[in-house]
Formats: sequence, C-alpha cells, structure tokens
Amino acid sequence: MTAPLNPEDIRALKSLIGWWEQSGVEALPPLPVPKSAQPAPPPSVEARATGAQARQAGFGAAPTQDGRAMAQAAQSLDELKQALDAFDGCPLKATATQTVFARGNPQADVMVVGEAPGREEDREGAPFIGQAGHLLDRMLAAIGLDETTAYITNVVFWRPPGNRKPTDAEIETCLPFAQRHIALARPKLVVLAGGIAAQSLLHSRNGIMALRGRWHDYTLGDGTVIPALPMYHPAFLLRRPQEKAKSWQDLLSLKAKLAAL
Ligand code: URA
Repeated sequence: MTAPLNPEDIRALKSLIGWWEQSGVEALPPLPVPKSAQPAPPPSVEARATGAQARQAGFGAAPTQDGRAMAQAAQSLDELKQALDAFDGCPLKATATQTVFARGNPQADVMVVGEAPGREEDREGAPFIGQAGHLLDRMLAAIGLDETTAYITNVVFWRPPGNRKPTDAEIETCLPFAQRHIALARPKLVVLAGGIAAQSLLHSRNGIMALRGRWHDYTLGDGTVIPALPMYHPAFLLRRPQEKAKSWQDLLSLKAKLAAL
C-alpha cells in the first residue's frame, strides 16, 4: 500500500518538479493513486440491485473519502468548491498549488469544460488563462461570447505535474465533481474542449476527431438532456492551426444553437 505523502515530501516533490520544469522536462510520470482514491470497480450484480439493499446485505465497504457522495451532497457551486477543497482523494492535489474551479458567469447559457489546469492556471487559480485560454477567449469572442455569457471550467481540478495528461484514474476521481458542476450550473449548452473532456463526459471511447462536428446528448442524473458540442482543444489548435477552419464551423454551430434557444 502507498503511504500518504507528508508535507515535507510534498515540498521536496514540488521543488523537484520546479527544477525539472526549468530544465525543460515536459511530461512527468503520474504519482501513485492511493487505494482509497482509486475508482471503485464496476458494481457487482448484488450492488446493482439498489444502494440500500446492497448496504443492508453488507456489500462494499466505502473508501475513506467517497468523491461521488461528496459531490452529490453539494447543493450549490459554493458547496461544490468547498467539497473539492476538503477532498484529498486525488493525488494531483498534493503537487498542485491550489484547486482551479471556474471562471466566468455560472448563470451563463454556455458552459465550456476543458481538460486540466496548466502552469498559469495553477498559479492564478482560474482555468484557461494561459496561451490556450487566450485562444479560447478569442474563439468565444468571435461568436459574441465572453466571461459574462460563458462559464469555463475543467474535468480535472488540479494541475498534473509538468502539464502531463491526467491519467484515467485521475480523471475518474474528478469526474463526479465535474458532473455535479454541470448539474449545479445547469447550462443550456455544453462545449467539451478536447478529447479528455469529450470522452469522459460522454462516456465514449471515440477520439475527438470522431466526436467533434456534431451535437451529442449530455444527460444529467435527473434525465435532463443538455446538448453538448465536442470541439478541438485550443492547445491543439495552437499546435495545428490548419485545423482552425473546422473549429470555426463548430463555433458557428454553437452560435446558431444559442440563437435558437
Ligand atoms: N487547458 C485546459 O484544458 N484547461 C485549462 O484550464 C488550461 C489549459
């Protein structure tokens, strides 16, 4: 079993990560996920009967912190942020500077969900404020949206060290909070920026190339369906500007859908 990191280990780890970054190391390996934070295996037939029946029958001990229960218990965005601040089931939190929650207007019709904070976001505590964020802002501005008419967040709330991709376990651990975030903000439309947001929230194995370009159904726990549009991640567009034409088509589709609300 992996022992939890103590504050001294965390300080040493952060300093090592800083040194690696200064030396130009881009991607660092994932930290081990503590057993209590690993996503639960698929429910057994017994556990699928109903939660109450399963508990009565004594199936399935709860992990020390149940992220799904904590997320579900939040009745407002403030409570969800507090739940994230209290949650220590995601090892990324140990190396991140702070939790990166959201920016923009939580009452907006459009909610944009990206991947995970990068270096600037980790430092400032707001999503999409680095280079990719500037491009995202310009893309939204091109169809008349800004921080007063869009709400912006990520699936993962802590920066992966060295800006590496979050692992499947880290995404799974954060997903109940991201889903609750959408349920509480209740936007009219969701934009999924990049493959990680699109695949995890739409429960799809298809890549972003296959998912983008059409509207999908994002279904809330109460059955409400919110139209969701997967788009290329702005960081991908910075690397592959020749793909911007497709994103422009997607933005026009978003603008038309908004106009029809
Ligand atoms: N990329 C993301 O997906 N989210 C951010 O907040 C910043 C960069």
